[in-house]
Amino acid sequence: MNDHVFPEGFLWGVATSAYQIEGASAEDGRGESIWDRFATTPGAISDASDGSVACDHYHRWREDLALLGQLGVGAYRFSVAWPRVLPTGRGAVNPKGLDFYDRLVDGLLARGIRPFLTLNHWDLPQHLQDEGGWAVRPTAEAFVAFADVVSRRLGDRVHDWTTHNEPWCIATLGYEKGIHAPGRRVPGEALQAAHHLLLSHGWAVPVLRGNSKGARVGIVLNPVPGYPASPSPADQEATRRFDGFFNRWYFDPLFRGSYPSDAVQDRTKAGQLQGGQMPWVQSGDLAAISAPCDFLGINYYSRAVLRSDEVPEAENAPRTVVEAPPEERTDMGWEVYPPGLYDLLLRIHREYRPAAIHITECGAAYATGPGPGGRVADEQRVEFLRAHLLQAHRAIGEGVPLAGFFLWTLIDNFEWQFGYTKRFGIAWLDRTTQARVLKDSGRWYGEVMAANAVDEALAPVATRVG
Ligand code: FCB
Repeated sequence: MNDHVFPEGFLWGVATSAYQIEGASAEDGRGESIWDRFATTPGAISDASDGSVACDHYHRWREDLALLGQLGVGAYRFSVAWPRVLPTGRGAVNPKGLDFYDRLVDGLLARGIRPFLTLNHWDLPQHLQDEGGWAVRPTAEAFVAFADVVSRRLGDRVHDWTTHNEPWCIATLGYEKGIHAPGRRVPGEALQAAHHLLLSHGWAVPVLRGNSKGARVGIVLNPVPGYPASPSPADQEATRRFDGFFNRWYFDPLFRGSYPSDAVQDRTKAGQLQGGQMPWVQSGDLAAISAPCDFLGINYYSRAVLRSDEVPEAENAPRTVVEAPPEERTDMGWEVYPPGLYDLLLRIHREYRPAAIHITECGAAYATGPGPGGRVADEQRVEFLRAHLLQAHRAIGEGVPLAGFFLWTLIDNFEWQFGYTKRFGIAWLDRTTQARVLKDSGRWYGEVMAANAVDEALAPVATRVG
């Protein structure tokens, strides 16, 4: 009776990314990526690890497909390692690299699983970074050529294409804050990177459609809903600034063909733009960026709470405060805030009207490991997922065209600057043996997918809907 049934045909999946699971970083002709290089920087990765072995998915992909089959997913979101296909980023194709994805796609289709392919999940070929990376325009051209190579080979069987994963993270964390590859700390470069990511997305859309009949093409953003810590005008202003920098800087070019003028002013005030000018934006760019897409992917993990005294004027990114008690945070320190997903979906639907939305990532890091008998009783993850799915269901009830949900992630993996210290998987990874052990959350998610419904009976009162 408490079941919340999802619409017929709702797409259930799990998501992964190449660098986080594949390993085999120097095998079969794969070139170096910026994450291989960044991981060699002392102190860059908290446990001094890297993705050279990761989950060894490059060798164990059959086992992982079997796991997907056992779970009963309808779709699998994965990414293609650009340096595996084009070792120096452009030019000569590495046939063994493409072959790997060819087999993977065939294996998915043989199990009735829809391949949901992301072209850029952060592992830019190092060679392109040596020429300036996302901060320079030729990288956008190289990306389109990469999209062309991959879609020419797989476009007959893959019909769901995502250009980039979370351009905000690439631009801001990679080029301004220096905590992601390529580890740059040059705010001006971050703005250029953001633009070239968006531009290459726009340029790639017609190429993907040309190579893949009936293709559905989209981009994945990581919008974070901001809430003022108090109703004070100062906290509201901080929230506006946060939203402009974090969300509208991407939504507005994609859906309205312009950068948000208030956020441009903020950056001018912060000394990052002169006279509001962005010389790297050329005529025709915004028209290309705002080409209509088939869907928008959003990744949701938490919200941001803004307090004005935490927002130095000269900073691009207002700092956020986490006021939730420790028991309401995941191992990332992120607040568990399911209603934020509802608010976000409604807002995107009302303000930007994407044709369809997929939640392309949602999940939680909790360290819970095997207990007696080897069982992983990760009840916190189940409750996290349940609460978020109930909010997604509620949004659908309000008319949001939400078409799918991809859980992050299949297996505990290389969590970027945190190495292997954060576990997001619904399967536990034993790093010594490479064994995968399905957690309770995995079994639970399997039941949800099979029923096409979520039950709220066990949800903690605080996260119940209605
Ligand atoms: C997202 C990334 C994904 C994973 C999760 C936890 O920002 O897209 O690769 O690291 O966070």
